[in-house]
Amino acid sequence: MSQALPIILGNWKMNGLRAEGDALTRSLLRGLVERQGSGTLGICPPATLLSTLAKVLDGSSVKLGAQDCAVESEGAFTGDISGRMLVDAGCSFTILGHSERRHDRHGRGESSELVRAKVGAALSAGLDVVLCIGETEAEWEAGETLGVLDRQLEMSLPAQVSAEEIILAYEPVWAIGTGKTPTIDDIAGTHRHLRGRLRSLVSSGAGIPILYGGSVKAANAAEILSIDDVDGALVGGASLKADEFLAIWQAGQTA
Ligand code: PGA
Repeated sequence: MSQALPIILGNWKMNGLRAEGDALTRSLLRGLVERQGSGTLGICPPATLLSTLAKVLDGSSVKLGAQDCAVESEGAFTGDISGRMLVDAGCSFTILGHSERRHDRHGRGESSELVRAKVGAALSAGLDVVLCIGETEAEWEAGETLGVLDRQLEMSLPAQVSAEEIILAYEPVWAIGTGKTPTIDDIAGTHRHLRGRLRSLVSSGAGIPILYGGSVKAANAAEILSIDDVDGALVGGASLKADEFLAIWQAGQTA
């Protein structure tokens, strides 16, 4: 993925039928014409919309990403979608290790080992990866955040990655979709810590962008995006409204 900062990515999760996805994407493209800016903007719609929206985005600078990627490249894996298929559908990157897949109440329960295998598979297919890590509310309250993040990072990140193909997203589980966020000082401290870990884990670690995610919206984006080691945002709910998402993009321009 282009390393132009800030990197603002929308994770649509399981939202959007064809007409809605098409309208939202076209509104984004119209809004961007009026709001020239630098950085990287991308959307991760549900898999059913990828091919359609790849056509809508064709010729624009907006990147198209997936929300998950199988370990295998093809074969008898009912329901899975491989990296090759995502590239074929027009994706240039994929989110992996999102907490809604790590901690799913319907039994997905993806381990960091599985996430690492998926990261390897996605990279081999030619996709860039947005690797998500984050602590639960109980871990946060117990003061275990940095230890939990270190373990998830060490276990999910393949040893050989280059800064051009990977982005780290710190998303506290308790901040996702809740309207709650850590304080600016907390986010700054956690990102500083993660920058140090990335430096010692991989040779190009200093250059790996680190996004914050969890209840980012237009109203708090400027403050969050102005933090030193915050290179962008992974946005859920607020990415489903073109105006709100564009306002976050705009906030990143001045932050
Ligand atoms: P949210 O989700 O912005 O709705 O909190 C963020 C995410 O899950 O990536």
